[in-house]
Parts: sequence; C-alpha cells; structure tokens
Amino acid sequence: MAREDDDTKPDLRLVPRQDIPWEEEKRQMKEVIRRQQEYINKLRQTDKALRDVVDYQKKQLQEYMKPIADLENEFKVCEEDIRFEDVGGLENVIAHIRKFQHGIMYPQMYEVYAIRPPRGLMLHGPPGTGKTMLAKAISNEMNCYFLEIPMTRIISKWVGEAEKTLEAMLKRCNDIYREKGIKVLVFVDEAEQMFRKRGESTHGVIDRCVNVWQMYMDGMADGEGLIYVAATNKIDLVDDAIKRAGRFDYILEIPKPDRAGVEDILRKQVAYKERMAKRQIYQVHDYGKLADQLYALEVSGADIAEILRITSERQIERFIAMPEDQLVTPDQLPIFQHRIEETIRDYSVADRKVERRKIGFSN
Ligand SMILES: Nc1ncnc2c1ncn2[C@@H]1O[C@H](COP(=O)(O)OP(=O)(O)OP(=O)(O)O)[C@@H](O)[C@H]1O
Ligand SMILES: [Mg+2]
Repeated sequence: MAREDDDTKPDLRLVPRQDIPWEEEKRQMKEVIRRQQEYINKLRQTDKALRDVVDYQKKQLQEYMKPIADLENEFKVCEEDIRFEDVGGLENVIAHIRKFQHGIMYPQMYEVYAIRPPRGLMLHGPPGTGKTMLAKAISNEMNCYFLEIPMTRIISKWVGEAEKTLEAMLKRCNDIYREKGIKVLVFVDEAEQMFRKRGESTHGVIDRCVNVWQMYMDGMADGEGLIYVAATNKIDLVDDAIKRAGRFDYILEIPKPDRAGVEDILRKQVAYKERMAKRQIYQVHDYGKLADQLYALEVSGADIAEILRITSERQIERFIAMPEDQLVTPDQLPIFQHRIEETIRDYSVADRKVERRKIGFSN
C-alpha cells in the first residue's frame, strides 16, 4: 500500500480500512468535509432561533425551581432533550405509555366511564435497556418536571426521618403544581429498594416510606400534580401491594432488544447524536451489517451507546495523532462505518468495555 512505502508520512495518522487505499479514504473524507461544511452553514441560519428557545426554557426552569430551593439538592431536573423518537426498538412499550399519558392528560374521559385514571407506571427489565431514558422522555413529552427521588440518600441521611422527608418532597412537588400548573414526574430508580416487600427490609423505615407512597397513590394525600414512574431490574422484590392496579397501574416489561430492535436503537442513537451536534457525524452505509454484528454480541441499548462512545474516543485519539499538515478541525472528521465495526470486534459485553491491549491505532 502506498502508505507503507512513503516515509514522508509518519506512522500515526488515520489508519486506512484494509480494502481501501489511504489516498482513497482521504479523498472520500475531503468530499465529506466539503458537504458537511455546506450542511453546517445551512444549519447556522436557523441556529439562533433555536438557541433563543433553549435559553428561554432554561430561564423558566430556574425560575420554577426557586420555591424548592431548600430541597433542591435532593432533586434532579431533566435537562436532556430525550424524546420517544430517540428510544429504539420499543414501539409496543411506547404505545402503552401513550395510553398511560392519555389517562393523565384527559382524566375527565375517565370520569365519564366512572373509572380512576392511571397514576403510576413501573418499568422493569434488564440493565441498560432504556428504562431511565423512557422516564425522561415521558417528562419531556408531557412538559412536566422530572424529579428523581434520591432513595439511597433519603435512607442514609435521615434515618428515622426518611418518611417525613419523602412526604415533604412529595408535598413540595404538589405545591409546585398548584403554583405553576406544571405536573411533576416523580421518578424512583432502583424501585426494588424503595418499594421493597414489607417486612423484608432491614429497617422499618422502608415500610413507613411505602406507606407514604400508598397514601399519595391512593389519593388520600393531595398529589393530583404528581405522576409516578418507577424503574427496576428486580421486579420480584417489589412489594405486591404497590404493584396492584390503582397504584402502579401500568407495569411494563422492557426487554433486551431483538435484531430489529438493535438496528432501530443504533439508527436512533446516531440520529440523536447528530441532532445534538447539529451536524452529520457518521458515515454509515449498511446499518443492517452493523446490527447483525451487534446482535451477535447480545448487546443492550447501553452497550450500543458505549460502542459509539468508544469509537468517538478512538477518533479523537486518531485526530490528536494526525500530523500538522493534514489537520482538519475535529468537527470535520466523520466516523466511517468500518471504525464502528472495529470497536464492535474489540467489545466485550461481559466486561462492558474494549480490552485495553486492543486499543491501538498505529498497529
Ligand atoms: N431502547 C433504547 N434506545 C436508544 N438508546 C438506548 C436504549 N436503551 C438504552 N439506550 C442507551 O443506553 C443508555 C442507558 O440506558 P438507560 O439508563 O435508560 O438504561 P436502564 O434501563 O435505565 O438501565 P439500568 O437498569 O441499569 O438503570 C441511554 O442513555 C441510551 O444512550
Ligand atoms: Mg436506569
């Protein structure tokens, strides 16, 4: 290959795909860079309008958070722009979630038929399948606040006070709804800890917390502004009473993706990243091939995200190693499909990482 014979070119730089000569890869890249520049220029025209909207939303958010300043450290607000369209391979689950949302948006319809609208949604399934992501997407799609109840800190920080703190938080959430008319999605991650079967927890404090939740979910406490979403990968440990209809009315399983799901997740993650970066990042010509390779590894959505992250990290290293005379700006370096394939080859799902010894670009 030309590259090896030519010693004016140092070793460390973009390594060509085996079946494409280095010169050809460079030519392709230049063409891509030219097209990207055109694309970026086009985006810039609308960029300002977009930024104004984001700034406005952030300011509003800060304003609304003032009343709970004393509890602020205990809450997390979702500032990530995650939508249902970003969640891959879970159309059926999302269809159910939409029904759940309708119950919250149109309670009067439920009154017509004398049934109680749903309040709670519990997502369960293996790690890294998109449960937390879905909770965030729901809050964004419904334009409500996203507050994660920090279970482990409630318990460790206020032994004996936990249920009071929990109650104060839920009450505060409802006050915010009263003041601002904005509902609060209360998210409980690792729900098997918060809603552990009664009598089985090590301290009675968990039992007392479960009682608080029941009070709220049964409508005995004023919680009309609250939407309850919980996630767990150990549904068997969750208290049965809390799982019954009328509390967590919807209990949805989030499975590991099948082959079609893997492809959908990959496409959506690529689209999400490009939406965030406001430019094209990837050059993928055969998603099916990548999906086959990923599926063979039995990946979760989180694995796919990690593989893309590692690929970008390698690209950064490659960029840093580029000789001065070939420098382009980092935002001009696309990630070609074969780079993702390289990462997939090195990735171990069991270890959730690439073996260190395999990371090398100069060979
Ligand atoms: N279905 C999916 N579609 C798109 N991306 C996904 C999907 N599932 C996971 N991901 C990616 O993996 C990351 C981690 O997923 P998430 O935190 O939602 O998993 P989880 O189910 O909550 O896992 P855990 O049970 O470990 O809490 C997400 O931020 C996203 O990048
Ligand atoms: Mg999670």
